[in-house]
Amino acid sequence: MAKADKQKLLDQIKADIITQNICPDLAQEATQLVFGDGNPNAQLVFIGEAPGKNEDEQGLPFVGAAGKFLNEMLAGIGLGRKDVYITNIVKYRPPDNRDPYPDEKAAFLPFLRSQLEVIAPKLVVTLGRHSMDSLLPGLQISQVHGQPKRYKGQVYLPLFHPAAALYNGAMRQTLIDDFSRIARVLAAIN
Ligand code: URA
Repeated sequence: MAKADKQKLLDQIKADIITQNICPDLAQEATQLVFGDGNPNAQLVFIGEAPGKNEDEQGLPFVGAAGKFLNEMLAGIGLGRKDVYITNIVKYRPPDNRDPYPDEKAAFLPFLRSQLEVIAPKLVVTLGRHSMDSLLPGLQISQVHGQPKRYKGQVYLPLFHPAAALYNGAMRQTLIDDFSRIARVLAAIN
């Protein structure tokens, strides 16, 4: 499908979240919906947890400290934000950056699935346990990080969350090492 057509479908999914009044309590406290950013034709999609303060203000995912780290890791493998697509499981900022509740993740899941259906990436990289749990249930991030998993026809690569790894030396290096596998994982998917 042409990029412009994909973008139109993504815009429609975004509009549906608003018209269907998904998570009204979160919506009321948030500045705006943070739907996603990047290339609708990307082979690689990254999925985080939920917007934080900066994301809520700018309306874009991963634009704060964790986003800066993510951008650095992308640059390290020769990619920019325009080469990939980035979104979150929960699309409104939870108050005080609390963890999203299970019912909030469940409410947004059909829309995340629709986004993925439109983009049809080769590889979905989950960042942290919230997005991993939503898409690849029953796994432990500490055991499966950096290992590609095929589930219901889609290949996933579960990684640690950049915010968790940012100030933790060992986890930071593990995340950088796992990240460096992305190109090989992508190349091996047929
Ligand atoms: N952390 C996330 O999980 N998502 C963002 O968009 C920013 C920080």
